[in-house]
Amino acid sequence: MATLGFIGSGSIGTAVARLAVAAGIDVVLSNSRGPETLTETVAELGERARAATPEEAARAGDWVVVSIPLAAYQKLPAAALEGKVVLDTINYYPMRDGHIEALDSGQTTTSELVQEHLGGAKLVKAFNSISDHHIPSLARPSGAADRTALPIAGNDPEAKASAADVIGRLGFDTVDAGPLTEGWRFEPETDPYAVPYSAAPDAIRAFWAELSEALRSGTMPQTPPPVDAGVPLPAAQLRTLLADTPRKLTADRVVA
Ligand SMILES: NC(=O)c1ccc[n+]([C@@H]2O[C@H](COP(=O)([O-])OP(=O)(O)OC[C@H]3O[C@@H](n4cnc5c(N)ncnc54)[C@H](OP(=O)(O)O)[C@@H]3O)[C@@H](O)[C@H]2O)c1
Repeated sequence: MATLGFIGSGSIGTAVARLAVAAGIDVVLSNSRGPETLTETVAELGERARAATPEEAARAGDWVVVSIPLAAYQKLPAAALEGKVVLDTINYYPMRDGHIEALDSGQTTTSELVQEHLGGAKLVKAFNSISDHHIPSLARPSGAADRTALPIAGNDPEAKASAADVIGRLGFDTVDAGPLTEGWRFEPETDPYAVPYSAAPDAIRAFWAELSEALRSGTMPQTPPPVDAGVPLPAAQLRTLLADTPRKLTADRVVA
């Protein structure tokens, strides 16, 4: 019986967990506040789901999805994740996570930072460039003509193959963007990020601009983020976007 552990059970964690239970994979969810705060989510997901502590979720998972704000990455349970294939969805948003000089300067990438903390885990960067609401709407069974591809990156080829296998069971093809040093290719605001999966790309860009302005003036954006059913992104198109995208450091981003 396959089990997917989750450290972080918010928008992305629960979206992936829903696909997992639908694919016959057991899930063990965790968050920062404790398993008792996940009762409703577990009930909604059904008998394949249970809640636990982050350490327990890490030990239970054949793969473990880490889906928390970057600011909390040093709290990830490195010992419990030793040897595990970790799917790292984490993105760097300085407005939320605080500035990290090594990322602002491009000296490293978000997933390399997380891998450094985790040491013995085999980290695969995944689910970073797709918006949470497009995860359920774009997932398709294997072989579907309109299957969407997601980028992955990682240093361990076997871990990447294993990650591609489970992501395939969840409903997506994958394109290998290379080792973690290449993870910047699908960090926020690069060409593969969010926009190509959206049916309303102009609305996304307008939202980013409004959010950026709101951050500058210390207010909240008036328009909610655009939500749509999404547009399938074939692997060949994603491959081109990954190859051609310029790097977006914090200073080059609209929302930082
Ligand atoms: N939302 C998106 O569309 C999207 C897309 C791609 C990537 N991402 C990235 O994926 C990550 C998760 O995003 P999200 O939107 O799912 O965030 P979210 O809805 O805010 O959920 C964050 C989750 O992380 C948990 N958490 C925080 N600190 C923790 C800790 N120390 N140990 C265990 N769990 C902890 C939170 O639990 P508590 O509530 O108990 O604190 C919550 O369950 C972020 O890095 C984000 O940038 C998001």
